[in-house]
Amino acid sequence: QVPNVTLNDGREIPQLGFGVYQVSTDDIVPAVSKALEVGYRHIDTAAIYGNEEGVGQAIAESGIPREDLWITTKLWNNRHDDARAALEESLGKLGLDAVDLYLIHWPVAGQNLHVQAWESLVELQKAGLARSIGVSNFTEDHLNDVIDATDVIPAVNQIEVHPTLTVEHLIKYSTDRGIKIESWSPLGQSADLENPTITELAKTLGRTPAQVILRWHVQKGYIVFPKSTTPSRIEENFDIFDFELSADDLSAIDALNADNRVGPDPATFDLR
Ligand code: A2P
Repeated sequence: QVPNVTLNDGREIPQLGFGVYQVSTDDIVPAVSKALEVGYRHIDTAAIYGNEEGVGQAIAESGIPREDLWITTKLWNNRHDDARAALEESLGKLGLDAVDLYLIHWPVAGQNLHVQAWESLVELQKAGLARSIGVSNFTEDHLNDVIDATDVIPAVNQIEVHPTLTVEHLIKYSTDRGIKIESWSPLGQSADLENPTITELAKTLGRTPAQVILRWHVQKGYIVFPKSTTPSRIEENFDIFDFELSADDLSAIDALNADNRVGPDPATFDLR
């Protein structure tokens, strides 16, 4: 039911996944278990989220064969010079031999270790610990830096994208180079759910605002993994493959861009 997107290394990633940013240690096992029960097979976590163990526990308890799951995690900013040990720690917490996708979580302004981190990820892919590798929150300059240094093009660039932040230039730049887009905060941390264009479209289509926005991501070709700890919303967000937005609907949503960033700006972000 969930379509796959083919990455530039030939591997296929389920286009819809389950995000666990800010899901607490109390909520993580029930949330991921619910998502797996509903049918999600792609989980997006990160070392910094502090919930890799819970993700691993829910996966193990589900009994779902490893090859049916896509698990993404991310290298935190203070480990750019120590990626192998960082990934091994994540794998230990997840209870896995390899992740499907390992990302550099942020390019750290002023630190300038993203090229070194990328060189390590290239090695980790060769070593089989990360089946696919990519980046997150990279600007055009950061992408150029790592591609120039290694000739290895990231499989994805995971960036903040939602109807009021459409970052069209960076997306075109990435996709022109064969880099797929993964959208984080796909609902704009829920702010975009109240946008009148979205609520009107939802009413017309007999869908919820979240379903309309997620459908927009899917039809734009983005990989998307909404986060929710509410069981009914986990179901609702998965139920987006039996309707379509028209070309006019898509253009109406494209026109909502207001450069409304809800997270940090990658050009200046330096948290470690
Ligand atoms: P909750 O986890 O309490 O269900 P984003 O992914 O853009 O950062 O947005 C995540 C936020 O959107 C969370 O607060 C989540 O709330 C909320 N959310 C997720 N899915 C839905 C939905 N279908 N309807 C309304 N709010 C949702």
